[in-house]
Amino acid sequence: MSRIKFFFEGLKHFKEIGTVTRSGTAMCKKAASFIPADDKVIIVELGAGDGVITKHILRRISSDSTLIAIELNEKLYKELLDIQDDRLIPVHGSAEELEAILSEHHIQNIDHIVCAIPFIVFPREKAKAMLQTFKRLMKPGGFFMQIHYAKNLTSLYESVFGNLKTHFILANFPPAYVFVCRKSSERV
Ligand SMILES: C[S@@+](CC[C@H](N)C(=O)[O-])C[C@H]1O[C@@H](n2cnc3c(N)ncnc32)[C@H](O)[C@@H]1O
Repeated sequence: MSRIKFFFEGLKHFKEIGTVTRSGTAMCKKAASFIPADDKVIIVELGAGDGVITKHILRRISSDSTLIAIELNEKLYKELLDIQDDRLIPVHGSAEELEAILSEHHIQNIDHIVCAIPFIVFPREKAKAMLQTFKRLMKPGGFFMQIHYAKNLTSLYESVFGNLKTHFILANFPPAYVFVCRKSSERV
């Protein structure tokens, strides 16, 4: 999808999409950079949009890895279908249904999550419950990576994961943050 089309889709569904600009190259590279390049991994991307980060993740992961890209907006989801890669499973659905989506694909646990959904739209308790489910589905040692335009939700992620590192991507338009939390090795 062109930047212009994304802009109009973002305007039309601003509450759901949370932006009128998709991630720029610097953000996409940063988001993919946390994934270990040589390991066989199962990655979930939540709020994949038109696939701009998806393509960078696919460039990064090993040939035997899997990427499940979940997108709520139908028009954006259809763009994911144009990405020809056997490792990619595009899903039209909500991050809230992650556990059911994984079980449909006979997947119990995942390694890492790359998330861009606008968590700010969810009531805090609901957002926390979603994050706790994501954490439960992740393998110990896996990371949860979230893109945000502001730092006001850091305590939410810290309260669930117990740790958080913040990266500021000045080169993105608009400049944005990447929060990275790691699931500790003990099963919680
Ligand atoms: C900020 S945009 C990011 C799009 C793309 N990943 C990027 O970086 O340009 C957030 C995306 O999350 C999607 N989204 C919002 N709520 C969602 C949900 N509950 N489940 C899945 N996707 C969701 C929106 O439709 C939108 O495409």
